[in-house]
Amino acid sequence: MHKETVSTEFEHVWHIVPVDLKERSYDILIGPGLFLELAADLKRMDLAQKYFIITDSNVRDLLGVDLLRLLADEGMDAHMVSFPAGEESKKMDTIVSLAREMVNMGADRSTAILALGGGVVGDMAAFLASIYMRGIPFVQLPTTLLAQVDSSVGGKTGVDLPEGKNLLGTFAQPKRVYADIGVLASLPLKELRNGLAEVVKYGIIRSPELFETLERHGTQIINLEPEITSHIVAKSCAIKADIVARDELEGGLRRILNFGHTVGHAIEAAAGYQIAHGEAVAMGMVAAALLSVKKGILSMDEADRIKKVLEQLGLPVAIPPDFSASELINITRHDKKNVGGRTHFVLCNSIGSAVIRDDIGDEELAEVIERCKAQN
Ligand SMILES: NC(=O)c1ccc[n+]([C@@H]2O[C@H](COP(=O)([O-])OP(=O)(O)OC[C@H]3O[C@@H](n4cnc5c(N)ncnc54)[C@H](O)[C@@H]3O)[C@@H](O)[C@H]2O)c1
Repeated sequence: MHKETVSTEFEHVWHIVPVDLKERSYDILIGPGLFLELAADLKRMDLAQKYFIITDSNVRDLLGVDLLRLLADEGMDAHMVSFPAGEESKKMDTIVSLAREMVNMGADRSTAILALGGGVVGDMAAFLASIYMRGIPFVQLPTTLLAQVDSSVGGKTGVDLPEGKNLLGTFAQPKRVYADIGVLASLPLKELRNGLAEVVKYGIIRSPELFETLERHGTQIINLEPEITSHIVAKSCAIKADIVARDELEGGLRRILNFGHTVGHAIEAAAGYQIAHGEAVAMGMVAAALLSVKKGILSMDEADRIKKVLEQLGLPVAIPPDFSASELINITRHDKKNVGGRTHFVLCNSIGSAVIRDDIGDEELAEVIERCKAQN
């Protein structure tokens, strides 16, 4: 049904995934060692006269300083601004202070922003680019697996409010995305697993082939073997790009990307965001699979495969026993993604295919949550 832009073998280590959004189309470049090619490629693209790297305090030292030098070596007018790493920084105050720093350092309408970091950097730098002097170009340089397979693709930008995550933001597309899989080597295992949960999700909602790759090659993936890592990043980007191209502003189809996220978000919120997003989504995907079985649209064998692949990748599949089903249900009923007062659940009718349903009652949801807790 959807366009396969990535081959099913992993003999290639470099991939280009096009994101087809008419005049806002762009390419995602994927592979090891891209950082070394980046400056020359950017220069060829001739996006801007000045480049501002926006990054966080961790990535600044890991990669930012080197990138700044590589840009300077190409004779480019490059600068760097950063903020303390972590979701706590993802707020309007940080946007305002970065913008003021940029103004004071001479950033103008001939400037392009290079978003170097994980999803927090990507979301904020893209948001800032979309409003700075009414909008300047930006490029995504994602450095976490989650950012490479998810947040850098699709054009959602934003910051959090004390009232909730991502409540202020825009849709804005980058000019190009460079996903250098080599930079993932320094990523803590917990962060790698965060991204892997989203890769599993893409397999479940859209690609039996990706799902099988994850089942068969878990260890190679955890070890970040280049061909397979490149392959799963490219395949994930191709799936997200295809969905986004069909539904850029989340009118319908794009909602299937929320598979596992309704219960997952409730778990995160109930835990006061002390459980990692990917871990919460993994538990949420098991809940969504069991709901699908309950609705009679998925076989128990396939639900078991979903649970098993998550376990193999080191992700949790049981909801901790101290969570109350009624509290989780209450949070899902107030999710900002609800439409017209109804909670939409993404269910799976076979591995590789998802459906949106809004006919899930509190009782069946409570039963499934209790089953997920009983797996402890
Ligand atoms: N825009 C979207 O469509 C979208 C989709 C999914 C998630 N998000 C957002 O993404 C954010 C989460 O992103 P994240 O998980 O990348 O978190 P993050 O940006 O906080 O990065 C996680 C940690 O890894 C560090 N790090 C980054 N690259 C590294 C590297 N190569 N080596 C070692 N450490 C590195 C960071 O400094 C940080 O401490 C959330 O704010 C979420 O809302 C956005």
